[in-house]
Amino acid sequence: MRDFRGDTIYFIVVDRFFDGNPNNNQGKDARDFDASRTNFWKYWGGDLRGVIDKLDYVQKLGASAIWLTPVFDQIDEVIEVGGQQMSAYHGYWAKDFKRLDQHLVDRPEDVRVFSRKDTVFDELVTSMHARGMQLVLDIVCNHSNPHVGEARCELYDDGELLCRYDEDNGAWFHHHGGVTDWNDLHQVQSRDLCGLADFNEESFAYRSYIKTSMKQWLDKGVDAFRVDTVKHMPIWFWQEFTGDMDVHKPDTFMFGEWFQGGVWDPASVEFANKSGMSILDFAWRNSVVAALASRSLGGFKDVAAVVEQDHQFRDATDLVTFIDNHDLPRFLSISDDPARFRLALLMTMVARGVPCIYYGNEQHLHCDTNGGNDPFNRPMMSSFEETPLLRDLAKLAALRKRSVAVQRGGMRTKWVDPDRWVFTRAYLGSCVAIAINRTDQPCELEVTGLELADGRHVDLLGGPDIEVRSGQAKLPIGPRAIAIYEQTRALPEGRAVVEIQIHGIRTAHGEEVLVCGDASELGAWDLSRAVTLEWIDHETWATTIPFDSSAGREIHYKFLVKRHGGSHRETGPGHHRHVPAKGRDTWRDQWRS
Ligand code: NOJ
Ligand code: CA
Repeated sequence: MRDFRGDTIYFIVVDRFFDGNPNNNQGKDARDFDASRTNFWKYWGGDLRGVIDKLDYVQKLGASAIWLTPVFDQIDEVIEVGGQQMSAYHGYWAKDFKRLDQHLVDRPEDVRVFSRKDTVFDELVTSMHARGMQLVLDIVCNHSNPHVGEARCELYDDGELLCRYDEDNGAWFHHHGGVTDWNDLHQVQSRDLCGLADFNEESFAYRSYIKTSMKQWLDKGVDAFRVDTVKHMPIWFWQEFTGDMDVHKPDTFMFGEWFQGGVWDPASVEFANKSGMSILDFAWRNSVVAALASRSLGGFKDVAAVVEQDHQFRDATDLVTFIDNHDLPRFLSISDDPARFRLALLMTMVARGVPCIYYGNEQHLHCDTNGGNDPFNRPMMSSFEETPLLRDLAKLAALRKRSVAVQRGGMRTKWVDPDRWVFTRAYLGSCVAIAINRTDQPCELEVTGLELADGRHVDLLGGPDIEVRSGQAKLPIGPRAIAIYEQTRALPEGRAVVEIQIHGIRTAHGEEVLVCGDASELGAWDLSRAVTLEWIDHETWATTIPFDSSAGREIHYKFLVKRHGGSHRETGPGHHRHVPAKGRDTWRDQWRS
C-alpha cells in the first residue's frame, strides 16, 4: 500500500464546494436543483470543474490529497423519503458505477468517462498529479440506490441496464428487508441500510461488475479509495476486493468507513487488521470532540486512553483521523468555540494516523440547524480566503511532510490530566513534542523523558522557546493553546531503504526488540550487531534500514526481544523477504512463536 502518512487529506462534498460550471446544475428531474441553496436535500451546483478551480486554495492549506464524495452516476429522480423530497447530491445513490454523474461534468459526453481521455475528471487527475497531489475516490460496494416508496432501483453497466431490483430474484441484491437490530452483524451485512438496495456479494456477476468498475477507476489515475459502509459486508468480500485491487495497482491506499469504528469496537479492529485496508478512526474523533467540544470530565485522559490501545492494531499509524465529517455534526455545531476547535484540528495533524480535514474546517464553516446533523453538516463552502487557521494547518501539513517522527512515531504520553496533555512522537532521532492546554488559564508543566536534544527548542506555533536538559524541560502553555517542538533528522540512505515493522510482541518497560538476519545490514546473524528497533506501541516496534550490499537479494531474518538480561528469539521459522534493488518499501511482519 502507498504510504500516506506524510499526507494530509482534504475531504470535499463535491456538490457543496464550488460551482465551476453552472451549465450542469439542473438534472433530468427539474426539481433536483435549488439555486437558493436553502434546501439541503437538493443539488446546489458544485462540480469537478469547481474542484479544479480551487486546487490552489486546497494546496495553500497544505493538503496533498483530496477525497471526493462519490462521483458515480446517480439516480435522476427526486424521491420522497419520510415525507422529505430528496435528490442524490451526496453521491451515495449510484445507478452506474462506470459513469460520472451529469451534475459534475463539463459536457454531457463526459459522463462516459471510460470511453474518453479528455473529460473533466481526466483533467482533474492530471492537474492534481502535476501538483504532486493524490486523488482519493469514495467508493460504495455495499449498495446501489433506493428501492423504497416510489424509488425503483435499477443498475447499469456503462449505460446498459444490468438489472432491476424488482425483477432480480436475488441474482444481484439481497431481499431481506431493512436492518432492525443494529447489534446483529449478520443483519447489518445482509439487510438494507436506509432503503438502499443491498448487493448480494455471493453473486459472481455482482462481484465481477464492482471489481471491474473500481479497477477502471484506478486505471484512470485514482490513487486511493475511501470505502463506504465496510461494516455492511462480510470480511471475505473485502479480502477478495483488496487482494484484487492490490494486484491490479499495488500502490493503492485504501481506508474503510466502519461507522463509529476504532479501538473500542473490536469488530472494526479485526477488520482493520485483516481486511487489507485501514479504517477511519472514529474513536480518536469521539475522544477529542468530547475533550474539547463537550469538555468531558475525562478530557485528554480519555484521548490518551485511545492511543494507549494502539497495539491492538497491526498498524495504528495509517488509521485515518478526523474531527468532522459529513455524517456527524461539525465540532462548531456542538460547541461554537473556535479556540478549542483549533486545538482539536492541530493535535490531529500531529497525532499518529493520516489526518483528514473536512472542507470548510479552516473557514469555521458550520450550520447548526437540527444540531448540525446530516444534511446540515454539509453547507456550501463559505469562503476561499486565507485564514489564520488555514495557515496553521498548512504549517503542520508541511511538518508532517518532512518529519518522519510525525509519520511513523508512536504516541508517547509524558504528562496527562483531563485538562493538559504532553506527548511525543519519536523515530530514529527525529522527534516532535506536543503540549496542549484546554483550560482558560496558562500553565507550566515540568516534563521528563523528552526525546529532544539538549538546548533551546522553538514552538512552531509561535509560543515561547523551551530549554531542554537531559530530556527535562519546563513547558509553558498558554490558555486554550497548543505548542509543538520539532527535531527532524534525515532517514538513513541506501540503494534500497526499508521500513521494517514487527507487530504482536508484547513488551514491558525497559525491554527492547531487535532484528538480526543473514544480511550484513542486519548483523549477518551476529547478535552483537543486531539492529535495535524503535518502540511504536505496546506490541509494535519498527525501524528503517538502508540496504546496499543486500539490495536486490533474498534475505532471512528474525526478531528478538531483550528480556531478563537475555535475548529471546522468535521460535518460528523467521521471515524471508526480497529486498528491492532500489527505492523504498515497508515490511509489516507478525511476531512468530
Ligand atoms: C456512509 C456515508 O458516509 C454516508 O454519507 C452515506 O449516506 C452512507 N454511507 C450510505 O452510503
Ligand atoms: Ca455546476
